[in-house]
Order: sequence, then structure tokens, then C-alpha cells
Amino acid sequence: MADTNAKLTVNGEEYELPIIEGTLGRPVIDVAALQESGFWSYDPGFKVTAPVESKITYIDGGKGELLHRGYPIDELANHAEYLEVAYALLNGELPNAEQKADFFEKIREHTAVHDQLRKFFEGFRRDAHPMAIMVGVVGALSAFYHDNLDLSNEEHREITAIRLIAKMPTLAAMSYKYSQGEPFMYPRNDFSYAENFLYMMFATPADVDYEPNDVVTRAMDKIFTLHADHEQNASTSTVRLAGSTGANPYACIAAGIAALWGPSHGGANEAVLEMLDEIGTVENVPAFMEKVKSREVKLMGFGHRVYKNFDPRAKVMKETCDEVLEALGVNDPKLELAMALEKIALEDPFFIERNLYPNVDFYSGIILKAIGIPTSMFTVIFALARTSGWISHLLEMHSAPYKIGRPRQLYTGETRRDFVKVEDRK
Ligand code: CMC
Repeated sequence: MADTNAKLTVNGEEYELPIIEGTLGRPVIDVAALQESGFWSYDPGFKVTAPVESKITYIDGGKGELLHRGYPIDELANHAEYLEVAYALLNGELPNAEQKADFFEKIREHTAVHDQLRKFFEGFRRDAHPMAIMVGVVGALSAFYHDNLDLSNEEHREITAIRLIAKMPTLAAMSYKYSQGEPFMYPRNDFSYAENFLYMMFATPADVDYEPNDVVTRAMDKIFTLHADHEQNASTSTVRLAGSTGANPYACIAAGIAALWGPSHGGANEAVLEMLDEIGTVENVPAFMEKVKSREVKLMGFGHRVYKNFDPRAKVMKETCDEVLEALGVNDPKLELAMALEKIALEDPFFIERNLYPNVDFYSGIILKAIGIPTSMFTVIFALARTSGWISHLLEMHSAPYKIGRPRQLYTGETRRDFVKVEDRK
């Protein structure tokens, strides 16, 4: 709904640009009228661009607020299970008892992957990064599901979301097992979503009685919830962009996994641990901080494009981190180093002036390490959790008319010139 108009004057022409109010947050200026003006808008990094309208997630970076379908993230993480949050992301409301039972049952029915999919794993070198495997095998799901792909059809939408959410823990655990040279473990449908993932990760055929610890299971479930969705971040925007061409939804999720992999995004949790390895001991922190201040390196797990106060996910994650470390009695010098680094950074004017606070990935890396999850799996776990957000955004896009995403550019290359034959080129 256009409430009022902004006016833009270029080359003496005035254009009326409608201002549109959402239910929360900054209004937007609809710049479609620029089409007639002979100009494009220019916004590298999409810092002030809202390419979509969405009802799923709201972030107020200044207040440090994150709402999924209106519910604050801390309440969801502390009181709901991940699959309930996934249901809410997909359907707009938290499930009632009957809907919850039905949804959980449907997820359980789809945890197994086609046996032929195992062959894809064998194509990877044994030391392949699990994220490389995930990009491949999730993309490969598109070769298994040719039916039920009309995402404007309610049944097709549901089965696609359920297949993806149900199979991600299985594929994630398989990518780990493969890298360890251990046999794949079949899912156990008597376990909860988080328990099942831990079981498939840590049980072996020689120890099928593996029972996930309660504190660890709850922490894992919270990690899933805290990573479930985050508005129009780089990977979600990638999923939407890929989906806007009408591409197979499983391939679109693989595109999201690729975008998530980078250290500026989901790869940060792995990068935090690599950074701690590089620093080594607490005595080396001041020298490392000097490198950060001279822009030689970034302090991984700190800062966020949207949160300029604190990351509300990090707050819950820190509490969970304390619980897990205490419950497991972990005494790892790497974790002590992380805590020392956090304290020093929080008191340093460089970080205070730039509003740089620990983000979700700073603490999630520490928890995952304490649980015994190898560093290379950290981003895979992020991808597993973010799948519910990605598919919710893809389905939201497909529930209304949408356009192919096709940005323009500011061209600064060569101007038109004549072709030169190879023998005449300098
Ligand atoms: N360490 C040191 N300096 C930093 C950091 C950092 N982690 N992050 C930002 N800065 C500085 C940056 O150098 C700049 O300083 P100046 O203006 O003096 O040049 C200022 O802070 C503003 O930074 P920016 O690059 O404009 O911020 P951005 O919004 O483009 O980047 C970010 C956001 C997340 C990419 C960045 O903070 C970063 O690279 N952090 C480390 C990686 C990380 O932890 N990523 C996970 C994000 S949370 C998980 C997720 O949602 O994906």
C-alpha cells in the first residue's frame, strides 16, 4: 500500500516514487519509476535495497531484534523445538498439538535418502570438504525428484519442504561419515530431529546403542533454531534468485549452500576455530588484535551487516554455550582462548566504535567444538538448519506472481571498438 510519494528530480524531470509501509521497520521507496528516467539505482552489496516483500522474518538491527512470524527468537529457541519453528516459517503460525504431531510424523517418514544417492558420495575424494559434498548431493536430489515440482500447488509445496528438511540431517551426517571412512548410519525414526542427527553422526555399527546426551541434544536443537532463518541474507537471496528462473527447488537449495559456504557468511563458524588455531595462546591475542586493527585480518565471529547493537541469536547461543561447557565439563584451552578474545574485543575501542559484537557464529563454533563436532562440519550444520528458511522463502516467492531476478550494472569497461585480427594485435 503506497502511503505517500517521494520526489526525485533528475535532469529537470520530476518522478513520483511511492513510499510503501510494511507492518514493521523502515518503509521502502519504490524506485520502479526510475525505468523511465534513464538511470538505474546503484547499491553495491544491496545495503539499501529491498528486492522482495516478505512475511517470514523481521530484523531490527539497531534494537538487536529478530522475529520469525512475529515471535522473538529467544522465546522460540528457549521454548519451541526446531521443527515447530520450521513449521511456523513455512506456514505462518506455530503448529497446534495435532499439526505438530502430523508434521513431525511426515518429517520422520522422509528421513531416508534413495540408496542410489550413496554412489554420489563415493565420487568424492575421501578428504573432500563436507560442504563440497553437500553442494553436490543436495543438488543431486533434483535428479531424484522429477514429480511434485509445481510450487504453486499446495501438495507439491508441502512434499518438497518435507523432503528437504527431513533429508538434510541424513545427508549432513553422511558427508561426515564419508570423510571419516566410517559406514553411513541409517536414520532412527524413534529419535527426535536433533537426536537423530547426533546419532547418525556419532553412532557406528559397532556402537548402535549410542544415546545422545540431553544437554547436547537440546543445544543442537537450539543451534538449529537460531540458524533457521535470517531474512534476505546472501544465501537466502541466492535461493530466491535461482528460484526466480523456475529452477528445480533442490538445485536452488544447493545454490544456497554454495553461497552460505563463504567465511563472510556461514563459513564464519569454521573460520572462528581456524582463527583460534592461528592465535594459539592468550599471550598472542594483543598481537593478533593489532593485525585486526591494521585491516590485515578480520576478527571472525564478530560484526554483522544488519546487527549494529548485538546479535540476539548470539545472546541465546552464549547461554547455551555456558550450559554445554559446564554440563560436559569441557576444559579445552581453545575455548578459554575464545573467552579471553571475546572479553578483550568487547572492551577495545576499535570494536566499540564500529559496533562490532560477537555474532551467532562465534559461540556456535565453540559449542560445536565442545560437543565433538569437527570444524569442517560447522557450516554443514548451519546449512542443515537454514534449509527450513530457504525453502520457506522459495515457497513464499512461488505463492504469488514473481519476476525473474535480473539486476542491472554500472558499466565501466571498454567503450565500443573494432575487432582486431590476431596477427595485428599488440
Ligand atoms: N573484524 C574487524 N573489523 C571488522 C569486522 C571484523 N569481523 N567486521 C567489520 N569490521 C570493520 C570494517 O573493517 C569496517 O571498518 P572501517 O569502516 O574502519 O573500514 C567496519 O567494521 C564496517 O564493516 P563493513 O565491512 O562495512 O561491514 P559489513 O556490514 O559489510 O560486513 C560482515 C559484515 C559480517 C561481513 C563483517 O562484519 C565480517 O566479515 N565479519 C566476520 C565474518 C563473520 O563473522 N560473519 C558471520 C556473520 S553472522 C552469520 C551469518 O548471518 O551469516
